[in-house]
Amino acid sequence: MIAFASRTGNVRYIVNKLGLPHIEIVEGLEIVQPFLLFTYTDGLGQIPSIVKQFLLQNHKYCKGVIASGNSNFGQENFCKSADAINGMYHIPIIRKIDLRGYQSDYDAIVAYYNNVIGLVGV
Ligand SMILES: Cc1cc2nc3c(=O)[nH]c(=O)nc-3n(C[C@H](O)[C@H](O)[C@H](O)COP(=O)(O)O)c2cc1C
Repeated sequence: MIAFASRTGNVRYIVNKLGLPHIEIVEGLEIVQPFLLFTYTDGLGQIPSIVKQFLLQNHKYCKGVIASGNSNFGQENFCKSADAINGMYHIPIIRKIDLRGYQSDYDAIVAYYNNVIGLVGV
């Protein structure tokens, strides 16, 4: 499973391309199986608040984080949501993606998913 948050559609676009099971994060969502988190980046390198809330309850089963950001925000802030989540929960960073990214980004996510979530987390 991939749990995702998307405000302007970039993450949603990518998730729909991956061909992997996914669910949008809404208030109160609980996941009790291994999953990857896919988030955008807000503010100046911030974790979106809906994702922050979600992680309070759900970080235990989260096996990796993917972030989308915009490199125009500068090296310091680019996809820093992923670093913040890694710092808080020690969840490994799988990929940082500029906006909608490239096929090579999608391939890397699918490869990680198949290795780490595999059939456990369909
Ligand atoms: C208000 C605002 C703040 C943002 N801040 C950052 C940022 O600090 N770092 C970054 O890498 N991207 C930042 N972004 C870019 C988004 O994270 C990026 O466009 C992402 O692809 C959006 O994903 P979504 O379309 O799924 O919502 C920001 C975008 C907006 C609108």
